Amino acid sequence: MTKLLLNGQPVDFLLDPQTPLLWALRDTANLTGTKYGCGKGYCGACTVMVDKVAVRSCQVPLETVEGAEVVTIEGLASDAGHPVQRAWLHLQVPQCGYCMPGMIMAAAALLEDRPEPTDADIEEHMTNLCRCGAYPRVRHAVLLAAE
Ligand code: FES
Repeated sequence: MTKLLLNGQPVDFLLDPQTPLLWALRDTANLTGTKYGCGKGYCGACTVMVDKVAVRSCQVPLETVEGAEVVTIEGLASDAGHPVQRAWLHLQVPQCGYCMPGMIMAAAALLEDRPEPTDADIEEHMTNLCRCGAYPRVRHAVLLAAE
């Protein structure tokens, strides 16, 4: 059993402790906003926050988040009210949208760590992949969210 705080609620996962966090979230907690892309830690579609740090949940065994605070896109804010979500909406960042929950979680974690990020910070931290090439809008939205 793995106990953690998920989007503000205590949960117990009765799963193999090696289960990737991604599948505990999607298949057991039914939080399907966190996406599966590559399953290898490259794309970032599965990004969530663990103790305010962005992690690629496909690479995180459940046992390593025992007692941690996990936030998914569903728990970031009510009514898409987080500054990152508001900036994303304002600038119409998504094209297909598939990678965007992970992008938004990566951006939210970046702003937790660096409330006034530089271009270099964004370059370093926003490493999620977007097949639609929304990178310029992502960069603008991160800067807007930081204002
Ligand atoms: Fe986890 Fe691609 S699905 S990094």
